[in-house]
Amino acid sequence: MRLQKYLAHAGVASRRAAERLIAEGRVAVGGEIVRDPARDVSEADDVRFDGKAVRPPAETVHLMLHKPEGYVTTVRDPEGRPTVLDLVDAGGRRLYPVGRLDWDTSGLLLLTDDGDFAHRMTHPSSEVDKTYEARVLGFPDEAALRALRSGIPLDGRQTAPADVRILARGADGCVLGIRIHEGRNRQVRRMLEAVGCPAASLRRTGYGPLRLEGLPPGRSRLLTPDEVDALLAAARLRSQPGGFPL
Ligand code: URA
Repeated sequence: MRLQKYLAHAGVASRRAAERLIAEGRVAVGGEIVRDPARDVSEADDVRFDGKAVRPPAETVHLMLHKPEGYVTTVRDPEGRPTVLDLVDAGGRRLYPVGRLDWDTSGLLLLTDDGDFAHRMTHPSSEVDKTYEARVLGFPDEAALRALRSGIPLDGRQTAPADVRILARGADGCVLGIRIHEGRNRQVRRMLEAVGCPAASLRRTGYGPLRLEGLPPGRSRLLTPDEVDALLAAARLRSQPGGFPL
């Protein structure tokens, strides 16, 4: 693992800040100051920050869950309702959800024990696309579709442009595909209500490059390292000036 990533995973600093600490000569590997953030290190190396040993980063896990309706996205619910954690075998790890889906929304939810990853995914500047399918009663007209696409005022602030299309038409309603990158409270439902087409049901089918396809409701699976890397790349946080805060 690259030294910069090792320090971030061990909780010393964000990747951006770790790069700075390395450049400042505050990090040593095997007793030698290292100024290259890309230097490969392993658990066998003696890594020190300001002379103090840095514990090797623990292996982290990242899961994708197909959340059914009727579960709250929280670790513990004071009202005793079923939580998304009831659906996964955490194997003794302290897993927590990345962002949230409403009680009555189903679909793709990420869970992890990696705080750095969760922070990157949920930071407002991360701009990871989330894709939803909404069953609505009735048919939004052109004006409604235009409004959904260009932005709806919610809480005094326009929503960012969205990708919205009609995926299927039934006798009395349709299925809309909606892609947004913001994560405001009940955002999709409120956008649809604002144009007079409330959602009868809502399902998240995609999160960045990941798709829910093939995962039955209530089931979860581990993400592959490539999927985790693709999500991090999609989060674009690395390109933000100043990186993300510690
Ligand atoms: N938008 C909503 O309205 N609800 C969700 O759970 C997610 C996005």
